[in-house]
Amino acid sequence: MTIEHLSADQARAVLPELAEVLQDAVHNGASVSFLPPLKLEEAARFWEKVVQGIENGTRVLLVARENRLVGTVMLEFATMPNGLHRAEVQKLLVHTSARRQGIAQKLMGEMEKAAKEAGKTLLVLDTCRGYEAERLYRRLGWREVGVIPKFAKEPEGYCDTVIFYKPL
Ligand SMILES: CC(C)(COP(=O)(O)OP(=O)(O)OC[C@H]1O[C@@H](n2cnc3c(N)ncnc32)[C@H](O)[C@@H]1OP(=O)(O)O)[C@@H](O)C(=O)NCCC(=O)NCCS
Repeated sequence: MTIEHLSADQARAVLPELAEVLQDAVHNGASVSFLPPLKLEEAARFWEKVVQGIENGTRVLLVARENRLVGTVMLEFATMPNGLHRAEVQKLLVHTSARRQGIAQKLMGEMEKAAKEAGKTLLVLDTCRGYEAERLYRRLGWREVGVIPKFAKEPEGYCDTVIFYKPL
């Protein structure tokens, strides 16, 4: 398994695979911005915006490959003058066929290296309380800020969102 830091052109070349990983997550109960059913075209449109962000220097996208693309994580840089040291971690996704092999942990490790290389000293993220990702973040040393009840809509009801930060 390899982790790659994609340029905008490289990301554009794997848009269908990125869309498939996002659709797989959403269709299997993940709370990652979208609700099921998520069409591949809609998922691809999301990644097209990410590609634009890579082009204008506000996003970093890492992917995990095992013959095919099996995982993603990205950074969105804060762009206002008082936040240039800060980035948000988004879309940590591992395809359901490749979970529980340590891929997310490796993606998070490489993502931290990429953030440091970009001069960032503080990372933030959020996730639904009680989901697998919450355990992972705690294990990787992320600190909880607090919980916002009913922050995100889910197919049945809402999820409470836990906000985390990690100084680098
Ligand atoms: C959360 C998510 C990214 C984790 O991906 P993953 O690659 O399965 O994560 P890891 O393999 O690093 O760790 C998951 C578990 O597998 C275990 N594991 C890791 N390597 C293992 C191995 N070789 N053998 C057995 N178990 C292993 C880890 O200890 C961990 O166990 P735990 O959950 O009991 O603590 C994945 O479940 C996912 O995509 N979920 C949907 C999207 C989502 O919620 N993303 C987060 C948005 S904030």
